[in-house]
Formats: sequence, structure tokens, C-alpha cells
Amino acid sequence: MIDSLVLASNNTGKIKEFAQLLQTINITVKPQSTWQVEDADETGTTFVENAIIKARHAAKITGLPALADDSGLVVDALNGGPGVHTSRYAGVGADEITYTKKLLDNMQDVPDTERGACFVCVLVLMRHADDPIPLIAQATWQGEITRERRGNNGFGYDPVFFVPSENCASAELPSERKHQLSHRGRALQQLLKLIQQDQDVTA
Ligand code: IMP
Repeated sequence: MIDSLVLASNNTGKIKEFAQLLQTINITVKPQSTWQVEDADETGTTFVENAIIKARHAAKITGLPALADDSGLVVDALNGGPGVHTSRYAGVGADEITYTKKLLDNMQDVPDTERGACFVCVLVLMRHADDPIPLIAQATWQGEITRERRGNNGFGYDPVFFVPSENCASAELPSERKHQLSHRGRALQQLLKLIQQDQDVTA
């Protein structure tokens, strides 16, 4: 039975979002910084590998169940890039304007029919550092890369990610609507179900 877990992230936005959602099923979430856990090196070549690395690292150091997420943008015309390198696409520490500009520049000659892309989010919950059957939830959000930045909501690549079903960029959506549709929102809903099923089995 899990009643508290460590979040393998030091990102305040994520900490707040996960804490609120998991509270609905009586799980308390604390960030890994509570135990002075530094970010793990993301050496995997897939999102799921990186999420496992982060969760295992936090579980090992704290001795608690750990939740990690890994997310990014996968662009068809870039052969799946930037993928696991999404946050470092324009170099470590580059700001949002810089990396979205780099993406738009690299996609300049790509025709409208070939601008497909998706956001990906993988969530991993490890009950302990050697857990052989972690709970894993993964969701994608299909869209297209725009030709210019649009909208001011959200963060990261939202201004260059066009959502055909809403006929606007992700950064033009109200946050509640984004959470309903997005890779992260849907992966979280899946994870909540997996946790509840797991709690029912172990109760
Ligand atoms: P991480 O999950 O914090 O490692 O994020 C990886 C990268 O993907 C970051 O650079 C984010 O900007 C980008 N990213 C992940 N999810 C989203 C999203 O919902 N909107 C925009 N960018 C995102």
C-alpha cells in the first residue's frame, strides 16, 4: 500500500500538479529536494529508460517509492528528434525562444503535409529501487509544427505545436483544456488507474 512517495523532479510546476492529483487518492508527494537528491543523469535513449533511471535514483537515495516523468517532442521530419534531447535541443540552459526558433528554422523547408509531430510523456512509479515491475504509463499528443510562434499560454514548445482538433496552437489553449488533451494529463490519468488497481491487489 503506497501512502507517500518522492517525486524525482525539482521542477516546482510538476511538483504542484502531481501533488494535487495524487492527493485525490490519498497519496502524499514530496519533491526529491526534501532529501537533497540531485537530478540523475538521463543517459537513456528512450523516454521510458530515462524515467526509470530517475525514479530508481530517487528511490535508492530516499528508501521511498518514487515517481518520475520524462517527456519531450518527437518530430516526423526530424526522424523522431529532438526526442529525449528535447530540453537540450539548442544546448543546455537555452531558453524557450532560442530552442523554438531553432526548431522552426530547421523545419523551414518542410512542406505543410509533412509537419507531423507528437508530445510524449512517460510516467514511472517504482515501489522501491529494485522494483522489477514498476507501474508505467505513457501517452502521446498528436499535432503539427507551426511556421511561427503562436500564443502565450503553457511553456516550452507549446507556441510551435499546432493541435488540429482545436484549430490552434497548444499555447493558445486554456490550461484546463490542455490538461484534458495533453500527453502529460492523459498519462497521469492512466497512472492514477494503475495505482488504484495496484492498491486493490495489495490491500
Ligand atoms: P521534461 O519532461 O521536463 O524533461 O521536458 C522535456 C522537454 O520537453 C522540455 O524542454 C519541455 O519544454 C518539453 N515539453 C514537455 N512537455 C511539454 C509541453 O506540454 N509543452 C511544451 N513543451 C513540453
